[in-house]
Amino acid sequence: MQTISNDIYNRIDNQFYNAEKDIWWNENEFLSLLKTSFNPCRFGYFLKHYTGILKQSAKGKTALDVGCGGGVLAEEFAAAGFTVTGIDPSENSIKTAINHAKKSGLSIHYETGTAEQLPYPDNSFDVVYCCDVLEHVRDLNKSIAEISRVLKPGGVFFFDTINRTFLSKLIIIKIWQEWKSTALVQPGLHVYEMFIKPAELKELCFAYGMEIKQLKGMSPNVNPIKLVGLLRQRAKGKLTYAEFGKKVKMKESNDLNVGYMGYAVKQ
Ligand SMILES: C[S@@+](CC[C@H](N)C(=O)[O-])C[C@H]1O[C@@H](n2cnc3c(N)ncnc32)[C@H](O)[C@@H]1O
Repeated sequence: MQTISNDIYNRIDNQFYNAEKDIWWNENEFLSLLKTSFNPCRFGYFLKHYTGILKQSAKGKTALDVGCGGGVLAEEFAAAGFTVTGIDPSENSIKTAINHAKKSGLSIHYETGTAEQLPYPDNSFDVVYCCDVLEHVRDLNKSIAEISRVLKPGGVFFFDTINRTFLSKLIIIKIWQEWKSTALVQPGLHVYEMFIKPAELKELCFAYGMEIKQLKGMSPNVNPIKLVGLLRQRAKGKLTYAEFGKKVKMKESNDLNVGYMGYAVKQ
């Protein structure tokens, strides 16, 4: 993958995540879909692999959430027994995450910072995860280098991101973002050129001493026609985000053409 130019990076609206209100847990905000539609699939997959396949226990293990936003995924890891640290460039998202963890009675350490410059010593964490973030960062190369650096040898890197294909352009850019009759999010949240092909991520992880062991698709549990119908209802205001989230859930699949997740192990 080529380095992202300033022209491309200037098109992504990462400032959106710094809104001065709770855009993460309020079920009238589309980011609440990360919890309702995405977490069961991705967190279910991560935990299943950590405990089932890798035969590790979450208890007493340290986990770093890179690009934690409002803590929607960090709280799942903490509730499962990990000692979690969350880092994100958005001060307001970090404030939301701190306040929500208090309400949930969870002890999570949150701070501001970027994936490109993680303020932790080498070999600090048993697990590092970075979900729906790699396609947002200024420098993917540096971010992967930093993730590997702070991960302990034998530690596990979990991720999810978006492939760069004709289909991902159609679904994520056109249908989810640009076409008013179906849009779920506003323009600028994702930029097609920043999407990452699985082979590029594999190569990059390998270059920094992490081997990707498995990749799986994340696909909606409804067929494309039904999905477009539900998106149209949502766009017309006939369905709230909460109602949409109850009807559309991501599921693990073998189709890597749009969203995909997986894990790598550090040598
Ligand atoms: C779509 S949200 C994902 C939030 C969370 N990981 C989740 O999946 O629930 C993208 C997040 O990436 C963060 N982000 C953007 N650029 C980043 C960077 N260079 N390093 C770390 N996080 C970044 C944003 O502030 C935002 O919180």
